[in-house]
Amino acid sequence: MTAQNPPPNGIDSSRPNVARIYDYLLGGKDNFAADREAARQLLLASPDMAGIVRDNRSFIRRVIRYLAGEAGIRQFLDLGGGLPTQTNVHQMAQEVAPDARVVYIDNDPVVWSHGQALLAHGTQVAMVRADLREPAAALCHPEVLGLLDFARPVAVVFASVLHFVADEEDPHRIVAEYRDHLAPGSYLAISHGPASAENDPGDVTGQVTSVFRQASAQLHVRSEPQIRRFFDGFELVEPGVVWINEWRPDPGIPSAGQPRSLMGGAGRKP
Ligand SMILES: C[S@@+](CC[C@H](N)C(=O)[O-])C[C@H]1O[C@@H](n2cnc3c(N)ncnc32)[C@H](O)[C@@H]1O
Repeated sequence: MTAQNPPPNGIDSSRPNVARIYDYLLGGKDNFAADREAARQLLLASPDMAGIVRDNRSFIRRVIRYLAGEAGIRQFLDLGGGLPTQTNVHQMAQEVAPDARVVYIDNDPVVWSHGQALLAHGTQVAMVRADLREPAAALCHPEVLGLLDFARPVAVVFASVLHFVADEEDPHRIVAEYRDHLAPGSYLAISHGPASAENDPGDVTGQVTSVFRQASAQLHVRSEPQIRRFFDGFELVEPGVVWINEWRPDPGIPSAGQPRSLMGGAGRKP
C-alpha cells in the first residue's frame, strides 16, 4: 500500500502490524512504511527471518496436505489466517480434496477486507473478522456455522498466532475451548515461536520480542512443554511436537531458514 493507495478508514498505518509485517517478510505488497521498518529491524536481529516465515508456510502446506489426505479432513478453521498469500490454506486443502471447506478467522481489518476480496469466493471458503481469544463468539459466528458442521471432524489451525496471545489471556484455556467444541476425529495443528534461552547466546529472541513491543500485538514465545500442553486432550500425530522443518519434511526439499526456528505439530481428538 502506498500514498496513491491510502489505507481504508479505521486502519492505523503508523503502527507496525503483525499481519502486514509477516506479509512483507513473505514478499507481499499489503504493508506500510511502519511495517517495513519493523520487518527491517527483525531482519537485523535475525537475518534468517524471511526464511523462517517461508518455512512456516511450508509446514502449513505439509500439515494441511496430511489432514486433507491421510486424515480425511474436509473442514478447516484457520485461526489468525493472515493476509492472502501465494498459496492459501483452502488451495492447499482443495489440491488434495476439492470438496474441502475452509473458514479463515482474523481480527485484522486489512486481512478481512483483502480476504473478502480474494479468498471468500464461491461456497466453500469464508473470511470472518473475529478475535480468536473469544472462542464462543468465533465458533458461533453465522458464517462459521454456515460452512462448518461441528458435529463432524474439523481441523483447527493456529499457525504462528498463539505466540501473539499473552499468558494473562490464558491461551491454553482458549485452545481447550476450541477442543471441547470439536467432534471426535477432529484435529489441532499449531506452529509457535519457542523460548530457547540455551541456544540463544545473542538473545535474538529478546531482540525480536522487543521489535513487536510497539506492534499491534506483542510476541510471547513459549517453552517446548508449554507448546506441547496446547495438545492436551489430543493424540499427537508422529513425529509429535518438533521443529517445524522436522515435521514430515518433503525428501529432497531443503528448508529456507535455519533448521531450528518455530516448533509445531498436529494432534487428533480421540
Ligand atoms: C504471523 S501471521 C500468521 C498468518 C498465517 N497463520 C501463517 O502462519 O502463515 C498472524 C496472524 O494472526 C492474526 N491475529 C493475531 N492475533 C489475533 C487474534 N487475537 N484473533 C484473530 N487473529 C489474530 C494477525 O492479524 C495475523 O494475520
